[in-house]
Amino acid sequence: MNAKGLSCMLVASCLFLAGAVSSRAQKPASSSAKPLLLDYKFFKTEVEPVFLNKRPGHARCVVCHTANHVAFHLVPLPPGGTTWNEAQSRRNFELVQKAVDFDNLEKSALLRHPLAQQAGGDPTHGGGKHFESQDNPEWLILKAWVFGAKEK
Ligand code: HEC
Repeated sequence: MNAKGLSCMLVASCLFLAGAVSSRAQKPASSSAKPLLLDYKFFKTEVEPVFLNKRPGHARCVVCHTANHVAFHLVPLPPGGTTWNEAQSRRNFELVQKAVDFDNLEKSALLRHPLAQQAGGDPTHGGGKHFESQDNPEWLILKAWVFGAKEK
């Protein structure tokens, strides 16, 4: 096959793949669609800072959730470090998905656990209620990510 033929074939297969990906992404949430639903860049730039942020009266998510052994687990920060490197963020992206309920996004532990019960959260969280209402900007970031928000 000549070079032109080969590039045509490549273009065709890329178009095919792109079509396959976008049609899958439009399907309702299911565990098989996981990697396509959640956006890594949004996670890195918007969600991770929520785990690192210090809120008055609370320890930071990262303080407890690198040490305890619950489903929500983060990579420990390097000694003296204030954030994660690329590989660690990629790992966090995988780990945090365990706290997402792909069959019922609304019910994800990531959203319900740190949210006050009167605002629709779970009754208790060992780490306290970091978000008093569903209007809390940081809670809205977690929710947006779980519901598939993409970095612009
Ligand atoms: C002071 C320590 C502490 C802090 C800070 C903390 N947590 Fe937790 N978290 C716990 C403990 C202990 C549990 C296990 C007991 C329970 O389920 O409440 C837990 C459980 C969870 C779970 C449930 C995991 C599972 O097994 O399903 C999620 C999700 C969670 N935390 C999210 C967060 C988020 C998000 C933050 C930051 C906004 C945070 N936590 C901050 C201690 C903490």
